[in-house]
Amino acid sequence: MKERELVVSKIREGTVIDHIPAGKAFLVLKILRIDEKTKETVSMALNVPSKKMGKKDIVKVEGLFIKEDELNKIALIAPNATINMIKDYEIEKKFKVKLPEIVQGILRCPNKMCISNTKEPITSIFYIKAENGDVIAKCHYCGKKIKKIAEFLI
Ligand code: CTP
Ligand code: ZN
Repeated sequence: MKERELVVSKIREGTVIDHIPAGKAFLVLKILRIDEKTKETVSMALNVPSKKMGKKDIVKVEGLFIKEDELNKIALIAPNATINMIKDYEIEKKFKVKLPEIVQGILRCPNKMCISNTKEPITSIFYIKAENGDVIAKCHYCGKKIKKIAEFLI
């Protein structure tokens, strides 16, 4: 599959997010706040054939070494994503994202009566746990649990 992986060319320097479940690359961009205002060169490959995953997505951000704390938020929707830090075309560091224990300001509480929805400005705070392979987020303010994380990303 090596040749096919080169649907997106190698980068000289920056961050490569690999092994994203097929279709989830858009959510990865959302979590990283990559949008039309982003200056960096960003490439994204969807539905790339993969031995391990069947199909996967890849995101490459050139010229930017995204902080580990930022990258670990990706585990909310892509628990097996791999991060590659590239320098001079070489992989300087490779690691798997790790589920954060707590996230702030990236999830919206589903409970309309929750103080995080009624009083502005309050940053949402959620505690993250893996329960039987699923990722569960629990609101710091009202205790409401989220199972479908992707639906509540801000
Ligand atoms: N990559 C890149 N630019 C580089 C080097 C690597 O964009 N200069 C990308 C590759 O295209 C790949 C990822 O970084 O998407 C990881 O590269 P590599 O470790 O060579 O690939 P694999 O062995 O397939 O990775 P893994 O063992 O994590 O499956
Ligand atoms: Zn709440």
